[in-house]
Amino acid sequence: MEKGTLLYEGKAKQLFETNDPEVVWVEYLNQATALNGAKKDMITGKGELNNQITSLIFDFLSRSGINNHFIQQISATEQLIRSVNIIPLEVVVRNKAAGSFSKRLAIEEGTPLAFPIVDFYFKNDQLDDPMITEDHMKVLNIATEKEIQLLRQMALEVNDVLKRLFKEINIDLIDFKLEFGKTPDGAILLADEISPDTCRLWDLKTKDHLDKDIYRRDLGDIIPVYQEVLDRLNKREGD
Ligand code: C5P
Repeated sequence: MEKGTLLYEGKAKQLFETNDPEVVWVEYLNQATALNGAKKDMITGKGELNNQITSLIFDFLSRSGINNHFIQQISATEQLIRSVNIIPLEVVVRNKAAGSFSKRLAIEEGTPLAFPIVDFYFKNDQLDDPMITEDHMKVLNIATEKEIQLLRQMALEVNDVLKRLFKEINIDLIDFKLEFGKTPDGAILLADEISPDTCRLWDLKTKDHLDKDIYRRDLGDIIPVYQEVLDRLNKREGD
């Protein structure tokens, strides 16, 4: 496989063409951002950790029957994925109140929710990724009724698989964000990354944050914390 020209540069990743039109080459970067890019830093080692954690998680999701874009990890910071058209939605699943949900509804962080909820946000930096309703998605031709139901169902399936995976390594999966893409034949695949950048992960016993809230809230260095998540995942794979 050969790395071709740059297709897209995001906040934390670069995507490159390859000599196979169905395959994209991803490089994870060390850049950390929060507050929609207003807070920005280079953090050595972050790209490597997120690439490894995402690769392990997507591999586990594949083995659990979740259709996704992941092909293989090819270096410490790189992976190959299937080419998809990203649906401009951030699909957030919440098991416990935290972050924007807690703030908007004045519910204490860590409050369990009676059932996992799925929130949709319109992926648009200029608009600051606003929350979006199902009617809005349909009227703006972002997704059809059938697609919305599939996204919701897949998001909840991912939640079931990941909640169990993280529980095994003493981590409480509070909430997380997913993105999905469409293949040319219209199939919907789970895409993007799943890492401490995109999940809220709390230590089951101490309730310590093992995620990007450390960076967002200036609570310390994310590297040892992300390394801890990777070590626990690797140890579980070895067991
Ligand atoms: O911002 P909020 O508290 O609603 O975030 C819910 C979850 O989605 C968190 O796990 C957060 O890390 C993730 N998220 C993300 N990218 C965004 C917004 C939220 O990964 N742009």
